[in-house]
Amino acid sequence: MRFSRGRTAEKPAFNTQPNAFLVEMVKGRAPGAALDVGMGQGRNALYLAQQGWAVTGFDPADKAVAQANATAAKLGVKLTTAIQGSEDFDFGENRWDLIVLSYVTVRDIADRVVRALKPGGIVVVEAFHDVTRERPVGGGVVFDSNELLNLFGKLRVLRYEDADATSDFGGAGSRAVRLCAMKEGSTL
Ligand SMILES: C[S@@+](CC[C@H](N)C(=O)[O-])C[C@H]1O[C@@H](n2cnc3c(N)ncnc32)[C@H](O)[C@@H]1O
Repeated sequence: MRFSRGRTAEKPAFNTQPNAFLVEMVKGRAPGAALDVGMGQGRNALYLAQQGWAVTGFDPADKAVAQANATAAKLGVKLTTAIQGSEDFDFGENRWDLIVLSYVTVRDIADRVVRALKPGGIVVVEAFHDVTRERPVGGGVVFDSNELLNLFGKLRVLRYEDADATSDFGGAGSRAVRLCAMKEGSTL
């Protein structure tokens, strides 16, 4: 079984397919060690594992992690998971070829993410822009114009977008911010 692009009958409240920006950013990139922060039910972790990445994912929501593991078993792929929040997770140093921050809080962990990337590793972020603040989403996943660029200012920006978009979690009429950036040295 692979992810299908088709619709599911019960029309879930968010996009259950892997994040399209992530899919685009990893296309053609040699798989390595990936970390999915706040993995939820694992749509992105599972996609990466299917592409040959060695994926670790964590999330404090135990039911979501259990669902990710159950889907991994069905798909016959391996995930390493932990039921933890970012505040407790040991990101390590020069450890990951890819860190995924898909609609999760970023501000408090940006420096740890930079340290944890291997030289040549990339961080891929997608989140909301501040214009969606009136929506019922936590402020931690809502960013001002160019804020992600500043948070990851030590990295080489490969792509930045601020676009009116159908957000994975916000539905139509949202504004999404997206960043893909690479660590160039080992001392950051
Ligand atoms: C909007 S969902 C995004 C899930 C997933 N990244 C995706 O794109 O499908 C936000 C996730 O952040 C998780 N979360 C909440 N607090 C967290 C924390 N302190 N550290 C890491 N993740 C957290 C939630 O449990 C939830 O699964």
